[in-house]
Amino acid sequence: MSLPTLQDVLTTLVSLLKTTTPLLKRITSLLLKTTTSVLLFTIVIILAIAVYRLYLHPLAGVPGPCLAALSNIWHACHARNGRMYQLGTTLHKRYGPVVRVGPNELWFDSKEAFKTIYSAGSGFEKSDFYLSTLLTKPTLSLKFSPFKFPFPSLQLRQHHPDTLDLLSERHLPRYRLQRRLIGPLYQLSSLKKFEPQIDAVLDRAIAQLRTLQGQEVDLKEWMHIIAVECLGAVVLSWSPGYIRDKSDGGTSVQGYRGWKRKSVFGLFPSITVLSFLEGGPFGIGAKIGKGVARWWSNTWGVTFATPKGFKPFFTAVYQKVSRRVSMALLLWMSEDVKVVKPSKKNKHPKPAGKKQDKGTGKKDLLEDLIRLHQSKPEQFTETYLRRMAMTNFGAGHETLCSALTACMAMLGTHAAVQARVAEEVGSHLRGGGTVPFDTTAKQLPYTLAAIKEAQRLHPVIAMSLSRTVPRDLDGAGVMLHGHWVPEGTTVGCNPVALHRNTEIFGDDADVYNPSRWLSRHHSGSSSSSPPSKAGSNAGVGSDAGSEIDSELAPEPEPDSDSSSKPPQPNLNPEEEAERKRLREMLHLNLTYGGGARTCPGRHLAELIVWKVIPRLVAEFRVQVTHMPDDENMERYFMSMLTGVKVRFLEREDIARGGGTGGGLLSGDIGKSSVDVDVDGLD
Ligand code: HEM
Ligand SMILES: *[C@@H]1O[C@H](CO)[C@@H](O)[C@H](O)[C@H]1NC(C)=O
Repeated sequence: MSLPTLQDVLTTLVSLLKTTTPLLKRITSLLLKTTTSVLLFTIVIILAIAVYRLYLHPLAGVPGPCLAALSNIWHACHARNGRMYQLGTTLHKRYGPVVRVGPNELWFDSKEAFKTIYSAGSGFEKSDFYLSTLLTKPTLSLKFSPFKFPFPSLQLRQHHPDTLDLLSERHLPRYRLQRRLIGPLYQLSSLKKFEPQIDAVLDRAIAQLRTLQGQEVDLKEWMHIIAVECLGAVVLSWSPGYIRDKSDGGTSVQGYRGWKRKSVFGLFPSITVLSFLEGGPFGIGAKIGKGVARWWSNTWGVTFATPKGFKPFFTAVYQKVSRRVSMALLLWMSEDVKVVKPSKKNKHPKPAGKKQDKGTGKKDLLEDLIRLHQSKPEQFTETYLRRMAMTNFGAGHETLCSALTACMAMLGTHAAVQARVAEEVGSHLRGGGTVPFDTTAKQLPYTLAAIKEAQRLHPVIAMSLSRTVPRDLDGAGVMLHGHWVPEGTTVGCNPVALHRNTEIFGDDADVYNPSRWLSRHHSGSSSSSPPSKAGSNAGVGSDAGSEIDSELAPEPEPDSDSSSKPPQPNLNPEEEAERKRLREMLHLNLTYGGGARTCPGRHLAELIVWKVIPRLVAEFRVQVTHMPDDENMERYFMSMLTGVKVRFLEREDIARGGGTGGGLLSGDIGKSSVDVDVDGLD
């Protein structure tokens, strides 16, 4: 057998090529043609959408950055880069009271919009942004409506489980019930009993801060330490050990990364919904869901890893709550055994009346929540109970940290204000150095103004508190600032922007000036004067003692206690205008949210903030050693002043009543009169 020669092989190859080339050519040209047409088609579609959004969309006439009108990518880029505060401070200055920040989203900074969107019965409910903050995945289902006009439709429906997720809850009746249930526990009258716990945390924190001897520290970390320790003490009689360690174990940094991700995902609700996918054969749904989420997260660079050895306090909190709740319910049930044999269905026979004193004997918020469950087991279910216990931390730790940081950063960069606060606090301090809440609320108007003012300039939320224009309005939309805003549009105010509106706060709205909150007739008076009588601190703290749960009461009057005062007979027009200005300032804010969705933890938050700030200022002269400029701070939906460095310098110049304030050295840590479990020691 002879091998084919090289020439034979080549000729066959060439002839083969000759016959197939036309075919190959045709295939490639066909492919090329299809790709080109697909590409062209896509470009045409994109162009059409762009033209529609820019020129034909109902919001086309609203001013705003051109790129923003094209797609949410513009907004998301800014969110990703932590530019929300910059947008809040610049957009309205450039474009006016209404700005189109997305194809279908508007921001406002005006009184008119605030009143329309955030009044209690407005019907403007939370937008799809809040899908990104859900604590429990909804289940999804498809609904096919073949006869829908004008086209048959395929709808992806979400079913949200009833687990008490206040921030993201979309079912309003359910939400209202939940708020009504927890309302009484979160009123000031119920919370004040936890003051000693907060005082004890502050004793320990101050002792530790002293040991630093003026060393430079990260302000946000320390405020987070204090926030988590206060919550731990109030809710669980527990300490995460952060004060002891002089560190929060990186938990504030980690949590903030989570907000970066949520802020981006919130702007793409359909991607967020896809990430909820589950079910299907071989768990394909969940795989797709997770895959989509991961891909999107990576695309935007908002994926974050958990550092090695990272210990989130949530794990410890969860275990604590679990143990306490199970114990309490077991005890409670064992009581019931004597009466009725408990079955799965009849776990909580009523009435609970007599058994209410059985518990772990701890006097903390969890104990109150457990009792609430025992008294209304069908409404305030065990699921609600466990979730609400966690929510105190989830909704409270960063918001408190943010607010405390803002206050201390402002005081630390405004020496005159700090000096005046220190003087005011010093003149009202009781022995031992603790600051009773009532003292702050009633006798420290300037201190309160300093706090309010910091929260105005640096609110905890720096993105729009977005709501949806309701579907059921007459005429299917609203008219705002001469623009027709159709139903379904996402609208809202960025607190940063609203809080700097010069029409509300005056021409110096950008300036940190606590005196703006004080009636002019008093702002000049010396703070060392005797405690001001009720009424002389008009505006400031006038709602301090209010026991009304704001969301249940019909729209609270800004100075609700004015009714208890005799009407001031001879106010001249100037004073009248002044009072009106103060009332408006006090009313028009989103510091604790707005409308039916205001912060349910506001009184708890104020209890803590109004005790912490005066106490710290009384003990230390706080000096900011490094204040990054705004460009170097990232702020997302959650907003914090990051990177601020401070020294806590001991204050000798303030005469303290009682004189024991200086006697707390680090040796006293843990020996406070209030019983707390320190993490790792129990
Ligand atoms: C200084 C501290 C705090 C500030 C400035 C603050 C502020 C706010 C704001 C602005 C909202 C509205 C968010 C929105 O509309 O999207 C809110 C909601 C909420 N806050 Fe607070 N908060 C603070 C502390 C707390 C604490 C300690 C708790 C603990 C119970 C808490 C629980 C909640 C909950 C559950 C919501 C969701 C309510 C809803 O969406 O309807 N907050 N808070
Ligand atoms: C914000 O406004 C509400 C009423 O709308 C008022 O009760 C509250 O005191 C104000 N908060 C601040 C911090 O100004």
